[in-house]
Amino acid sequence: MTQLIWDDSFSVGVPELDRHHQRLAELINELAASQDKPAHSEEIVDILSALSDYANYHFAHEEHLMGVRGYPDLADHLSEHNVFCEMVANACYQATCSALDLPALLAYLCTWWEDHILRVDIKYKPFLAPQNRP
Ligand SMILES: [Fe+2]
Repeated sequence: MTQLIWDDSFSVGVPELDRHHQRLAELINELAASQDKPAHSEEIVDILSALSDYANYHFAHEEHLMGVRGYPDLADHLSEHNVFCEMVANACYQATCSALDLPALLAYLCTWWEDHILRVDIKYKPFLAPQNRP
């Protein structure tokens, strides 16, 4: 499976958030590298749990910055985050009862990571990027 690789085209103009997106890619890549393991294996469950925790941490931080900067599309952005969190939480549950379709989940995660950053996150760049602050 293709590994996610962050480059400057994914930059949202806030170094801290760029690092968060890189960490999310690392976790998804770790999951891809473990896909030969049984879906209920401790390794898969641990990576999914770490992805869930880190996504929640990252989204809370990103949402806070959008809020304090008065980003106008915050509500739509929040709902995209919520859909992702539900998907990963559900995948964690499915993994623990051996019902996880890991290839399908990986396809979703890889598409989501690229699409969310390039289509959704990138829109806040003019509001959050340090060089654009008054
Ligand atoms: Fe986001």
